[in-house]
Amino acid sequence: SRLMRWLAARKLVPKAELHIHIEGTLEPAMMLEFAARNGLPAPYPSVDAARAAYNFTDLQTFLDLYYFGCSVLRTRQDFYELAMAYFKRAAANNVVHAEETFMGGLADAARDAKQQLGITSSYIMCFRKELSDESANATLDASLPWHHQHIAAVGLDSTELGNPPSKFVQVFDKAAELGLLRVSHAGEEGPPDYVWQALKLLHVKRVDHGIRSLEDPLLMAELNATRMPLTVCPISNVKLKVYEGQVEERLRALVRSGLLVTINSDDAAYFGAYVSANYEYIAAVAGLDVLEVAQLAANSFEASFYLPGGRARRQ
Ligand code: HPA
Ligand code: ZN
Repeated sequence: SRLMRWLAARKLVPKAELHIHIEGTLEPAMMLEFAARNGLPAPYPSVDAARAAYNFTDLQTFLDLYYFGCSVLRTRQDFYELAMAYFKRAAANNVVHAEETFMGGLADAARDAKQQLGITSSYIMCFRKELSDESANATLDASLPWHHQHIAAVGLDSTELGNPPSKFVQVFDKAAELGLLRVSHAGEEGPPDYVWQALKLLHVKRVDHGIRSLEDPLLMAELNATRMPLTVCPISNVKLKVYEGQVEERLRALVRSGLLVTINSDDAAYFGAYVSANYEYIAAVAGLDVLEVAQLAANSFEASFYLPGGRARRQ
């Protein structure tokens, strides 16, 4: 109904957003502005040209444009403005808590978002899967000076196929010793076995995406028994053509499976949809009533690393 969609999408349902790449919130207008002020050539001739280019056939075609866009991000101020723009959008979507990918001047934005907007947040530092375990280790070492309250976890993102979680056992063990929580993208394009590896080898506390878990009944049972959260990003899956032709059926099955499913935006600027639009979409495709939508929002708090008092949950 219209009432249900309005509730789902807008102000009345507080939410935590658990899967958002901060660089994926770089809107084309901001990209062009940052390029100009950093003395870089414009990545696209216009905002419309950027939007026209955002036409993806799979994860890799998206990632190529995503990293191209990231190249305009140079200064502490860039990251501050990027993150604050996200937090303001999130506040308008009634997001009260967010967990996302870390870099440079983001800590200032997290502090100001709490003071000015009442949003708590923690950052998740993701290693790129196509790079080596050694390079992830170097990234972890370089990040040590920022390991205070703002980084709650490490994660894995970027090119999935051919880069199983087993590649990163060493660096995840080290992160655990440092007291960091662990999450991983798995089962987005990769097979259910990659989800098993994330669970059993990396000891993740959440699985990002995980939609291909549907293909393995034993895995579904394991996720259910352990109440393992999945950070599902419905419009991302549509735009990146995961399960082409069947994505609606798969998303419906996942949301109706009884697993601890949360709804998130992933790379909102590239997919043209912030978190409310994702709730609205899933409500429509899965035929959810208002209580089921509220349950998804409640799941987002159960699955978050937030503890009352504003601290991040540990281990
Ligand atoms: N999947 C993997 N890597 C990513 C994504 C994603 O959806 N977004 C940004 N990096
Ligand atoms: Zn993601």
